[in-house]
Amino acid sequence: MYSEQAMERFKNPKNAGTLKGANAKGEIGNAACGDIMKMYLRVSDAGIIEDAKFKTFGCVAAIVSTDIACDLVRGKSIDRALKITNKDVLNVMGDVPPQKIHCSVMASEVIAAAVEDYRKQQKKQAKKGK
Ligand code: FES
Repeated sequence: MYSEQAMERFKNPKNAGTLKGANAKGEIGNAACGDIMKMYLRVSDAGIIEDAKFKTFGCVAAIVSTDIACDLVRGKSIDRALKITNKDVLNVMGDVPPQKIHCSVMASEVIAAAVEDYRKQQKKQAKKGK
């Protein structure tokens, strides 16, 4: 069973959608089920994640965990965001059916993908500036 808070987030995800002014995007897929998670970040010049949004095509656990991941990264530095684990996501999520825990792992993976994209963009810009 899912926790009450997980079901509430599933019905009303706060962070669903695209993000105006996003300067990084992460995308990952789960080959086993075909689900896809996308995370958009707006990162300040100082490397602080000002805002985050997501689009997830997937199961309840996938959608809820990406919504939580957006909350967890907001206001953090990109280095700190990389330290967010599946456990942090599950702590917010509450009860999850055991067979769905692997879906929530995608949330920390999509954070890593978005941060990697941000770093790539930064490198590209640095090269252009030379
Ligand atoms: Fe695909 Fe949950 S069943 S991520």
